[in-house]
Order: sequence, then structure tokens, then C-alpha cells
Amino acid sequence: MKRFLYAGVLVVAVLAVALISGNSFGQVKKVGGGDIKYTNTKGLGPVTFSHAFHDGKGLKCTECHTKIYKMKKGEAKVDMATLNKGESGGACHNGQKVFSSKAPNDCSRCHIKG
Ligand code: HEC
Ligand code: HEC
Repeated sequence: MKRFLYAGVLVVAVLAVALISGNSFGQVKKVGGGDIKYTNTKGLGPVTFSHAFHDGKGLKCTECHTKIYKMKKGEAKVDMATLNKGESGGACHNGQKVFSSKAPNDCSRCHIKG
């Protein structure tokens, strides 16, 4: 009988930890706004903005939010004309800070065929 009690306590404890950490088992923790997919690319590969990748490069949330982007997907203008003017993603993807949105060899670094 006591054994069932111990088992029960253990189950409750494990569930409590899962609940508090807000994490399902085996799931990778989402960074910031997660992955944001852009598919209006006229036959080129879709673009996925990855929060995890940019976070890994040491960028702080405040470097993008909320000067360049609101914390809500679908608000920002992200077409090539906007990028190539140095706005939106073009604020960094300008060939000075990081690879440029205009460089023919670098299109496929954002437009990735699935
Ligand atoms: C820094 C990332 C990035 C790079 C580099 C990039 N693009 Fe894009 N591109 C985007 C995003 C984001 C969109 C918008 C997609 C959407 O609105 O769903 C886009 C959209 C497009 C579109 C759709 C129409 C338009 O004008 O917006 C075309 C065509 C395009 N890109 C071509 C290119 C070419 C050619 C290159 C290389 C010279 C390139 N892109 C480099 C991110 C990039
Ligand atoms: C390199 C730029 C960049 C950095 C750094 C960044 N974000 Fe974002 N974030 C974006 C972009 C781009 C979007 C999409 C905006 C849009 O579509 O209008 C976005 C959207 C979001 C959203 C909305 C997601 C949704 O589904 O609506 C949240 C929440 C968010 N970011 C949180 C964060 C947090 C928290 C951090 C820091 C850990 C962070 N972001 C760092 C660029 C960035």
C-alpha cells in the first residue's frame, strides 16, 4: 500500500515541475518570438526569420524591438525594396554589419529552398 503512496507522490511532483517550468518534455524552449516564416517570395525559397539564430549571434531583444519591429508578427514591411533601402532587415543586412540583401551570392542565405 505504501508503495502506491510513494508512486503517487512522485507522479504529482513530476507533474508540478513540468507545470512550473512551462515546458513539455522533449520540447526545445522557444527563444523570443520563435521562427517567423515569410512565403511571399515569388518562386524563390521562403524566408524564415529565426529568433534562436539571431539570439545566438548575441543580439539583444532591444536591438530589434521595438525600434525596428513590433513584437507582433505580420506588422513589419519586409519586401526587398524595403530591405534594400536599409529599413527592416536591411538595417543590418546592408553589407556593412552583415551580409547584404542586395548581394547576388547571398540571396540563398535567406531564401532557403525546402
Ligand atoms: C536578409 C534576408 C534576405 C536576403 C539576403 C534576400 N532576401 Fe529576398 N526577401 C526577404 C524577405 C523577408 C522577403 C519578403 C517575403 C514576404 O513578404 O513574405 C523577400 C522577398 C523577396 C521577393 C519577393 C518580391 C519582393 O520584392 O519582395 C523576391 C523576388 C526576392 N526577395 C528576391 C531576392 C533576391 C534576388 C535576393 C538576392 C539579391 C534576395 N531576395 C535576398 C529576405 C531576403
Ligand atoms: C534581429 C532582430 C530581432 C531580435 C534580436 C529579436 N526579435 Fe523578436 N521579432 C523580430 C521580427 C522580424 C519579428 C516579426 C515582426 C513582424 O512580422 O512584424 C519579431 C517578432 C517577435 C514577437 C511576435 C511573435 C508573434 O508570433 O507574433 C515576439 C513576442 C518577439 N519578437 C519577441 C522577442 C524577444 C523576447 C526577443 C529577445 C529574446 C526578440 N524578439 C529578439 C526580430 C527580432
